[in-house]
Amino acid sequence: MQRLDRFLSEAGVESRRKVKDVIRSGRVTVNGAVCTVPEQKIDETSATVTLDGQTVGRGDRRIVVMLHKPAGCVTAATDARYPTVMEQLPPQYRRLMPIGRLDMDTEGLLLFTNDGDLAHRLLSPKKGIEKCYYAEHAGTADAEDVAAFAKGCVLRDGTTCLPAVLEPLGEGKSLVRVREGKYHQVRRMLASRNKPVSYLRRISEGTLALGDLPLGMSRELTNEEIERLESVHFDEKFFNQN
Ligand code: URA
Repeated sequence: MQRLDRFLSEAGVESRRKVKDVIRSGRVTVNGAVCTVPEQKIDETSATVTLDGQTVGRGDRRIVVMLHKPAGCVTAATDARYPTVMEQLPPQYRRLMPIGRLDMDTEGLLLFTNDGDLAHRLLSPKKGIEKCYYAEHAGTADAEDVAAFAKGCVLRDGTTCLPAVLEPLGEGKSLVRVREGKYHQVRRMLASRNKPVSYLRRISEGTLALGDLPLGMSRELTNEEIERLESVHFDEKFFNQN
């Protein structure tokens, strides 16, 4: 939520001081009703605000937020038993929808948006956006594991995965790059190679990296970041490199 005067000044309508007079004079509506109270709190992610009959600002602006999800919360809008990822976001972002999901025990990069079409496009199997995970697991991954991932892991229940990339990082640590999102996929892929996972963090998705965003914190993506993310297309060569 944001104050109406702040919303209008950030949208470039006069200075904060002059904006107060504009609001008090009855020229501004919020969701169709005149509002003369500069301090009025509005939901800046969804409110329609007009000045002299013209829509102002950011009600229809596209928002994409990146969260560094901690373990212990579920990717759901509500849950009777566990805390949800929505509770990790600042209040003004709690109406956004998650783009995909991370398991309760998985940390890392999780995106949210108010643009359902964008979410749909980014999740499309045809787009095949690559997600990279850092995993800690039993044993040490070797050339045979790398080859099995490159060929397409067969999970313990017989499900075959698309080719993926396994990069061993030494004892008990690996990077895993996948372009699909089956239930508990990375954990199950490593388990199928007798390397059960003890810790998992998603560190990148397409062109976006978690970087140094602290655990539990979130930030809005810039328009350039959103455009770059959208422009990614699946590259067959990537999965044939091993
Ligand atoms: N693979 C998993 O096993 N868990 C996740 O949360 C994401 C990918």
